[in-house]
Amino acid sequence: MRALVTGGCGFIGSHVVRGLLADGWEVTNLDKLTYAANPANLAEAEGHPRYRFVQGDICDLALVRELMDGADLVLNFAAETHVDRSLLEPGVFVRTDVEGVVTLLEAARARPGTALVHMSTDEVFGSIPAPGEAAEDAPFAPSSPYAASKAAAELMVRAYAETYGMAVTVLRCCNVYGPNQHVEKFIPLFTMRALAGEPMPLYGDGMQEREWLYAGDFVEALRVVLRELPAEPGVHAVHIGSGERVRNRETAELICELLERPRELITPVADRPGHDRRYALDSSRLRARGWRPRVPFREGLAATVAWYRDHGAAWAQTASGEFARYFERQYGERLARR
Ligand code: DAU
Repeated sequence: MRALVTGGCGFIGSHVVRGLLADGWEVTNLDKLTYAANPANLAEAEGHPRYRFVQGDICDLALVRELMDGADLVLNFAAETHVDRSLLEPGVFVRTDVEGVVTLLEAARARPGTALVHMSTDEVFGSIPAPGEAAEDAPFAPSSPYAASKAAAELMVRAYAETYGMAVTVLRCCNVYGPNQHVEKFIPLFTMRALAGEPMPLYGDGMQEREWLYAGDFVEALRVVLRELPAEPGVHAVHIGSGERVRNRETAELICELLERPRELITPVADRPGHDRRYALDSSRLRARGWRPRVPFREGLAATVAWYRDHGAAWAQTASGEFARYFERQYGERLARR
């Protein structure tokens, strides 16, 4: 079986590529290698007889058509994913997350034999007040340009499913964490800052809740989904949530504890504008299909923190150049003003 994975050099994509190769798939990885990609994430796949890497853009229709030729499955993990960056540069989110998905849909609509699975997010629903959980048919209410770009992509998926009778599976997932994630995200950033003894910039009151899923458990969920991909025309949404909802302050404190660093490093700074208070998915449908997350948050966090401690040198280079400029833009004033 042949799969085309887009964004395979990114965080979740790299875990997926490794999982598919382990399961016997032939994998083509189409990745633009933006700032968020890290080819080192797939170093061990290089040279694998069933793995091929192609550098390119999901907005390139001719290339996407060529690569879809002969593919049984297309998995879209190519995206701009960082909410804070979407506040600084929304246009690039529209291009990759919306136009890119339309390009994939255009290429896929002529290929009824190719199954399409698209990665979305729980953020399409906006903030979910406690004790609520968003079911598959909950209304969209995105708060950030990132979340809106993902919701817009889902609407495009819906339009193509209606218009052309396509069957598309859409994965809406909670916060995934684990090795390989870019250091701009909360857990890796706070881990690297704690290791360096630098202030950990906690947005607002830090009482926001996120639902955390270990990357390996995401891959297991995908395996369950791939066992039975629906063929009936329509959008088939799948909710993947761990149910482990933790306040940001508590996560930050756990990181300090794991690294034996003082909690005083946790530094409240100006909040993220439009910051969603809480995400919570109802993933009972997927659980009824046999999926359960296996890695409890504290255990996964300890493994993740240890991974960043051991791979810190590799990430240190990101502290120069692009990331350093982004960090200054995003946090410079916030940290100076605290
Ligand atoms: O919920 C799924 C989503 O999870 C994915 O769709 C997104 O692509 C992914 O980036 C993630 O979005 P979040 O905004 O929840 O993740 P982030 O790591 O940016 O932030 C997690 C929480 O930590 C959030 O409440 C904001 C807070 N935070 C984050 C950063 C980077 C801070 O307090 N300080 C920070 O410096």
